[in-house]
Amino acid sequence: LRPIHRLLSRAGTVAADVRREEQSSGSVETGSEDRTPKKKFSEVQKERREQAKRTVLIHCPNKISEKKFLKYLSQHGPINNHFFYESFGLYAVVEFCQQESVASLQSVTRTPSMDTEAAIPFRSRFFNLRLKSPSNQPSEQPHAQCSSQSSPSSKKLFELLCDAESIDDQLNTLLKEFQLTEENTRLRYLTCSLIEDIAGAYFPDCTVRPFGSSVNSFGKLGCDLDMFLDLDEIGKFSAHKTSGNFLMEFQVKNVPSERIATQKILSVIGECLDHFGPGCVGVQKILNARCPLVRFSHQASGFQCDLTTNNRIALKSSELLYIYGALDSRVRALVFSIRCWARAHSLTSSIPGAWITNFSLTIMVIFFLQRRSPPILPTLDYLKTLADAEDKCIIEGHNCTFIRDLNRIKPSGNTETLELLLKEFFEYFGNFAFNKNSINIRQGREQNKPESSPLHIQNPFETSLNISKNVSQSQLQKFVDLARESAWILQQQDQDRPSPSSHQPWGLATLLLPSVANSLCLAKKKKKKPASERIKNLLESIKSSSAENSTDTNGK
Ligand code: GTP
Ligand code: MG
Repeated sequence: LRPIHRLLSRAGTVAADVRREEQSSGSVETGSEDRTPKKKFSEVQKERREQAKRTVLIHCPNKISEKKFLKYLSQHGPINNHFFYESFGLYAVVEFCQQESVASLQSVTRTPSMDTEAAIPFRSRFFNLRLKSPSNQPSEQPHAQCSSQSSPSSKKLFELLCDAESIDDQLNTLLKEFQLTEENTRLRYLTCSLIEDIAGAYFPDCTVRPFGSSVNSFGKLGCDLDMFLDLDEIGKFSAHKTSGNFLMEFQVKNVPSERIATQKILSVIGECLDHFGPGCVGVQKILNARCPLVRFSHQASGFQCDLTTNNRIALKSSELLYIYGALDSRVRALVFSIRCWARAHSLTSSIPGAWITNFSLTIMVIFFLQRRSPPILPTLDYLKTLADAEDKCIIEGHNCTFIRDLNRIKPSGNTETLELLLKEFFEYFGNFAFNKNSINIRQGREQNKPESSPLHIQNPFETSLNISKNVSQSQLQKFVDLARESAWILQQQDQDRPSPSSHQPWGLATLLLPSVANSLCLAKKKKKKPASERIKNLLESIKSSSAENSTDTNGK
């Protein structure tokens, strides 16, 4: 047995992402004062993946003694980190110090025998722990503490926002409450690693990488888990080892196009997940989409997963957003608030349709921050000029090169507050000439629209594409109206801010009230009650509706 203090130690955790470094240096405030060296995206991915491979997921009995549980598992090797969470049952995520410990645990694990059903034998890193004699567990043993995997309820959020000291404080509070926690991030990488084991049964040496908001630093608790099945490494390393006049190639099957290859690969992986993937339910193969995918729920983690392949540009977009999110601590605070604001007003939705997506909103915030004077964020073209030979990246003929070491990018001299930026964001887009101009973060300036879609946001890497082609004129108009209304509300409150002791919503809290725009319009027309009373009524209405609908700002 290993010493118990090693088992309980949470030290030695890989400090891998921007958020944790920001938290530890206390730099979530405004400005670009944080000089802590930041890790490259590829370094974070590598460390997290390696960590996930040493990690197991265990479904536990409801009442379990943490100490005994750890002592039992430590027979297989020292434990680096662990936590418990609830998701239709109690689960533990246990990270061993060494990967051999996982094999050791698997070697003493049996396939359950069923009475009425038959089990498909599959050795994974997802286990079920049973007590041999449940009555032997003394009830006075302290039970495992659970880490929460969900964002706060609307009610709790409103309380926190109302108690904040300033609008800047409100934006930072919202970020702190909604951003992915360390545990949630670990669970995301572990889920990808478990899916990689399943896909690896077909394609040994494949890699399943998370992308999108799980890794770009803009993920909100409850967001989906985008996965990329990477088959490019298969058979690559052997090529340069050949000597002499011969070249060995694998015999392979050919299909007429990349798209058909992608569809065929995802089709078999979808079948595999459906039939053999422990905990994978509701598998849907959406192979005719522009970007074919397999969608499923990973029941134990609670994640809605979208698995794609041949989607390397999206991984590069995630890296670019990660860099923008890490360059200045105001970026993430502003993006989170705008995303929550959009969700609260149903400008975004988890259902695909004519709405603006979170990805588009993030690009709009980045563009706005490039337009400040002095700019808070550099243009993509500038990041390209800073790139060295190793950063060079061409994907399917598109130049996706930019500097990857974010410590080499000079911080902005702009010191504007988040309060000002929020207000200016609404004013900027409330008055933007969407009818003739396109948003372009590559050049950081407005350009003439090349086509007639209501909203045109140039795809940063596939520059002939519009990432918001789906957005209808009426959805765009709704965005513009709400932006104007929100700018107006913030302006009004400059003169008429409720005192913090009154516990009335103010600042960002007012902007997140779902009915604020309509109610304010009505109130303006009727010219009846003073602003403070109208807002008080709105708080009452949100309080009662949030009791029914625990969090409306949750989800995508
Ligand atoms: P959430 O809403 O929190 O899931 O944000 P997300 O950024 O993860 O968005 P989503 O799950 O819709 O898409 C995942 C990733 O795919 C994004 O981060 C982008 O990198 C990429 N992506 C999504 N939509 C588009 C698009 O319209 N065009 C391009 N080029 N990439 C997209
Ligand atoms: Mg996503």
